[in-house]
Amino acid sequence: MKLAISFSSLALPDAGTLALFCFEGRVLSASAATANERTGGALRRAIDSGRFTGAKGQMLDVIAPAGMSIARIVLIGLGKTAEVDALATEYAAGALVAHLANSGARTLSVAVDPLDGAALDAAGFAAHFAAGAQLRAYVFDRYRTKQKEEEKPSLEGLVLLSGDPAAAEAAHARLAPVAESVGFARDLVNEPANILYPVEFARRAQETLSGLGVEVEVLGRKALEEIGMRLLVAVAQGSIREPQVVVMRWNGGDAAPVALVGKGVCFDSGGISLKPAAGMDEMKMDMGGAAAVVGTLRTLAARKAKANVVGVIGLVENMPGGEAQRPGDIVRSLAGQTVEVLNTDAEGRLVLADCLAYVQDRFKPRAIVDLATLTGAIIISLGHEYAGLFSNDDGLSGQLTAAGKVVGEEVWRLPMGEVYDKKLKSKWADIANISGGRDAGSITAAQFLQRFVNNGTPWAHLDIAGTAWIGEDKATVPRGGTGFGVRLLDQLIAANYEAS
Ligand code: BES
Ligand code: MN
Ligand code: ZN
Repeated sequence: MKLAISFSSLALPDAGTLALFCFEGRVLSASAATANERTGGALRRAIDSGRFTGAKGQMLDVIAPAGMSIARIVLIGLGKTAEVDALATEYAAGALVAHLANSGARTLSVAVDPLDGAALDAAGFAAHFAAGAQLRAYVFDRYRTKQKEEEKPSLEGLVLLSGDPAAAEAAHARLAPVAESVGFARDLVNEPANILYPVEFARRAQETLSGLGVEVEVLGRKALEEIGMRLLVAVAQGSIREPQVVVMRWNGGDAAPVALVGKGVCFDSGGISLKPAAGMDEMKMDMGGAAAVVGTLRTLAARKAKANVVGVIGLVENMPGGEAQRPGDIVRSLAGQTVEVLNTDAEGRLVLADCLAYVQDRFKPRAIVDLATLTGAIIISLGHEYAGLFSNDDGLSGQLTAAGKVVGEEVWRLPMGEVYDKKLKSKWADIANISGGRDAGSITAAQFLQRFVNNGTPWAHLDIAGTAWIGEDKATVPRGGTGFGVRLLDQLIAANYEAS
């Protein structure tokens, strides 16, 4: 469902659904107090009849109150005013959208009064409320042809009522491209692999980005062979789908670029080291890193960020065809090191290794962040709550950790070091693509990547296997592809790499 967002002045509507706020201790907002008067105290009576106290996360429906001609009022608890910040606002909006999405309500008005003592003003509250609603309203329904009208989401419009609608709209203008780009990234992740294979992924990236002023180059199999990205090509060789590397440049600044590198395995069957059947369908999401990189560039371009950012994504399909690589194959990487492929299911690191070598050689970036659905082990470690962070640089790690807290896409740093690196010894080549055991699988994967990072280049690897795809709804993230990384990287760039 695509929500139409609009901003208007603060007058209580006489149709549709109205959301009003209440704070801890049953303290009504100014608009809620007005509505309470107009309805002859209906809101108070509803509150007093139950357990609603205005605590954070609570909601109370008051249906068709006499004295007003609207269909429904939803009272939303915000807790303590001092705890109302951007994220809490987005989460409240997300919960409300989930509550109303299939209720039959079509338009929702939200009355935003000045908030004394909160971390954001009324305009910021309205803007973040709208963004949170948009994020949660996302649906991927393009393959449903038989949904009945009454099964479709009903909510169509969201109107933010506030004292200064122009200021709210201006604040929202900074957030809207981010929410839209998260939706774009989610679409990529949710698309099945028969539709979204490397060539089609590259086409969609090009189509979206070039219109926004991003320079996009697409390298096909022949170009990749000429360049010498043999590890990446080796992963793709078991599939009839041609591999692609997409290079995307947003030139909004004048310093050396920040490089974003994404794993784009459009489907990961495991290759000859075939995965078990159960849950294999979800391996269409193994391009979540690449989706986050494209989504981030889309955001940066749409909001004309004052930074130079280059994105490189490696798009392949990992399949067990007759020409597939075999366990034991030795492949010379773009960087020159030879890799013994002991397990063809550890393919993401092969794709990324060549992309890392390429981006450093060509662009001399000031920092690199790669995103990859790299290991099942990171889901064991961190679940679906934090992405794993691995880095050679405390400064960059701190920036990512801080950015994650701001936007609610959190990362947790895990250790790296020589003791883990040496587990990647190969009997026959410079390095093996897996360690001997199952221990510390996410760390050894990161160690593999670090072998392809030049000394002195700040680099961070985000293992997003647990956060790129979720099986249960979150406040602003419906289940399925999450678009994880778009908000995080946008915030990272905004806070650290943009000229003011
Ligand atoms: N794409 C998978 C990792 C993954 C697992 C992503 C679950 C999302 C959900 C990756 O290519 C993979 O297969 N990793 C192996 C590595 C192993 C062979 C060393 C894994 O995690 O089992
Ligand atoms: Mn794999
Ligand atoms: Zn994979």
